[in-house]
Amino acid sequence: MSATSLPDPGTTITAPPLRLGPFTVDPPVVLAPMAGVTDAPFRVLCSSFGGGLFVNQMVTARALLEGHASSWELARFHPAERIRSLQLYGTDPLTLGEAVRRLVAEDRVDHIDMNFGCPAAKVTRNGGGAALPYKRRLLRDVVRAAVQAADAESGGRVPVTVKFRLGIDDDHLTFLDTARTAEEEGVAWVALHARTALQHYAPPAHWDRIAELKQAITSIPVLGNGDIFCPDDARSMITSTGCDGVVVGRGCLGRPWLFRDLAAAFAGEQVPPPPLLGEVADTIRRHVSLIVEWQGGEERLAHFRKHLAWYLKGYPAGSSVRQQAGQVATVAQIDELLDQLDPTAEPVEGVERIVRSHSNSLSRVALPERWLDDPDAEVQLPRGAEALVSGG
Ligand SMILES: Cc1cc2nc3c(=O)[nH]c(=O)nc-3n(C[C@H](O)[C@H](O)[C@H](O)COP(=O)(O)O)c2cc1C
Repeated sequence: MSATSLPDPGTTITAPPLRLGPFTVDPPVVLAPMAGVTDAPFRVLCSSFGGGLFVNQMVTARALLEGHASSWELARFHPAERIRSLQLYGTDPLTLGEAVRRLVAEDRVDHIDMNFGCPAAKVTRNGGGAALPYKRRLLRDVVRAAVQAADAESGGRVPVTVKFRLGIDDDHLTFLDTARTAEEEGVAWVALHARTALQHYAPPAHWDRIAELKQAITSIPVLGNGDIFCPDDARSMITSTGCDGVVVGRGCLGRPWLFRDLAAAFAGEQVPPPPLLGEVADTIRRHVSLIVEWQGGEERLAHFRKHLAWYLKGYPAGSSVRQQAGQVATVAQIDELLDQLDPTAEPVEGVERIVRSHSNSLSRVALPERWLDDPDAEVQLPRGAEALVSGG
């Protein structure tokens, strides 16, 4: 073993791999589903750096059943993906069950994650998203429909997991109930985004609640989510909460090598230093070529601008390059921009914690009238609760 690969006891993370149906997730690291971000090129790029599970973007069950081509396109996987993991959203048990049945029967997925964390007003005001777990019966019916459909159609080979928030706000916490229900209904694991809907994305995530959940749920793994930006964060979360794995969201935006760093820490190896700007440029080129290959052309490259801005954060790229980054639309323009970068430039201290994507809280969570009156009331939600949404 060379000096550079000597284990660093300070960053070693001790946690066994996760079982997910017939699969092993090793290390126990999950790329969080992120709408508009975790498309096939990004998942393949992240997985090229290290092991784990790389979850697709959320699609709505109803949009699939209604035949929306864009939703079926989102639900497509790259041949390089080892575990085809898709996040589904739905509020109607029948629709959800039918969507799961189709996805499994047509052999399109290996794993289904369910999203109960979306804080977007347009769905919570109709009782959907992060508001749904407050109605316990509906939550149980929706989870049961997905698990039963997956089991029946796959013979138990396609596991279902659930991801949810702490609750609506500090006075209406639902995570313990939600997890117990999911456990009873046969999900493979639960993942807690340790913020309320009201907290939205504002730091810090309440890791103490992950510890509480781990105490309460004993028969299936509990995964923790919120504010993992580097291997030290993953180690702290696992040691302080006892959770069985970590779900990584914004920490890997513009930093897909976080999965390499995490893999090293879980393997007891030295975590590499942050890349110089030249290595970042190489990763950007790889990301762009994956997009072009996936799309079969250069159209829609404007979507890449946000990634480009995230990649450059914390590096001395210069204001003119940053401005250009907001306007690129072709591979040639991206190449031209990358050629201007100093490949030897180092990132600033703390580059991993610079805000990328959402970081705000909400002033209030929009809810249907009298929603909080009775958690045990029977409800059927309007279609608006399933409006195509993004976010969690
Ligand atoms: C741009 C963006 C899109 C997101 N979309 C989803 C989603 O579709 N489904 C979901 O469950 N969570 C979604 N989330 C939430 C993340 O999965 C994750 O729970 C959250 O970012 C907290 O983790 P973090 O602190 O590591 O970022 C999204 C987050 C971001 C930043």
